[in-house]
Amino acid sequence: MKITLALTGASGIPVGVRLAEELSEECDLITVVSDSALKVMDEETHSREETMEILQELSEEVYTEDMIDAPVASGSFRTDGMVVCPCSMKTLSGLATGRSSNLVERACDVCLKERRKLVLVPREIPFNEIHLENMLNLSRMGVDIVPPVVGFYFGPEDIDDIVDYIVGKVLERFEIFKGLYNEWEGGKR
Ligand SMILES: Cc1cc2nc3c(=O)[nH]c(=O)nc-3n(C[C@H](O)[C@H](O)[C@H](O)COP(=O)(O)O)c2cc1C
Repeated sequence: MKITLALTGASGIPVGVRLAEELSEECDLITVVSDSALKVMDEETHSREETMEILQELSEEVYTEDMIDAPVASGSFRTDGMVVCPCSMKTLSGLATGRSSNLVERACDVCLKERRKLVLVPREIPFNEIHLENMLNLSRMGVDIVPPVVGFYFGPEDIDDIVDYIVGKVLERFEIFKGLYNEWEGGKR
């Protein structure tokens, strides 16, 4: 399998990096990073340099958003799909309107036109009507909308458990099942 992962400038860069770890064990991973994702890395990780090094190690290739001539910008380069994690509201709107203004949006647009799997992890709170309409329109086009919403039924003990739960939910969209969270086995009564 060959999967493209894009990190954009929404909060949740550690979720994207954890997802990269798991995906790299299952497929050839191609990573695209937006300019704003680099800024959010400064806030949410030890340093953007260290985080980019980790992503380089996990990926076959890492591209920045301006590298619009990268293979993933063309439908003739075959992949098994793409995930945007975290996905900002700006990128969400770009996908809903076919903007293709950078490599993240273009690679997603390629998935849409080629009818390949596209999974978004849109992060904002609360959502406004524009965000919700964009998600609905994309969902109607077959896009999987997997927001990083916390669950408590599986007994998380720390943030890592919650991150793994979200990552597990994303991986399931690609039929990858890694047991990252405890399955529901029925109620206590
Ligand atoms: C620390 C930080 C956190 C942010 N968190 C979010 C967020 O959770 N959701 C969002 O839509 N935008 C968020 N933004 C704003 C985006 O980074 C901004 O809209 C940017 O233009 C998105 O660009 P991109 O989609 O090309 O990465 C955040 C910005 C910063 C600096």
